[in-house]
Amino acid sequence: MVAAKLKEKTKQAHLSLEKKMVGYIKKVASGKDYEKLLRLFYGYYAPLEPLLNKYINNNIIPAYSQRRKSDTILKDINTISSGAINFRKCGNLPQVNDVIEALGVLYVMEGSTMGGTIIAKMLNKQAAIPPESLTFFNGYGKDNLPMWQSFIAAVNERAANNEEKIVKSANDTFSKMEEWCDKFYEEYVTTA
Ligand code: HEM
Repeated sequence: MVAAKLKEKTKQAHLSLEKKMVGYIKKVASGKDYEKLLRLFYGYYAPLEPLLNKYINNNIIPAYSQRRKSDTILKDINTISSGAINFRKCGNLPQVNDVIEALGVLYVMEGSTMGGTIIAKMLNKQAAIPPESLTFFNGYGKDNLPMWQSFIAAVNERAANNEEKIVKSANDTFSKMEEWCDKFYEEYVTTA
């Protein structure tokens, strides 16, 4: 199954990104710090979405139009900061030239809902971030698992003959996100 291979072959990349993320999350002590974390995700997810929309629709991935989008990040930012401006966006994105590459990217973006609830709990506990500001990380809530399962079933079907390509695309999406993390956190100024 493609999904099992994806999980196995991106395990290292996930671990590496997760380690970096946990470091950032542990440093969040205020709404301002949390805004920075949201801006990091926005800067990577927002420019990828129009690229994915060229190849993915509700026929390819169930409930695609209802899946988590970067405007949820903007809504969360608006609950903690008024008049948020100047969103930085990543300029070194993974390639999206066909449906397989789009699915590889989406695997990483959708998969992050799995760890998202853990992130939301950490932020609530350590920095008292309220649930209404955590909608992005909480993902689909109680529907996280069924949404993931329907996504994975579609990937197994669509990418059955393109295992190597989808794995490469997913790994590229993880590593470029890590590069973006370094760049973003290095250059971030609180007045951004
Ligand atoms: C604090 C940070 C993170 C934690 C604690 C975390 C934790 C987890 C956990 C517990 C799972 C479920 C594993 C399973 O059921 O076997 C998971 C899956 C996944 N996460 Fe993360 N994660 C984090 C960050 C991220 C980020 C930032 C991304 C991508 C942007 C990501 C992408 C994925 C993907 C693609 C999967 C699905 C793996 C699969 O079953 O194929 N994670 N994560």
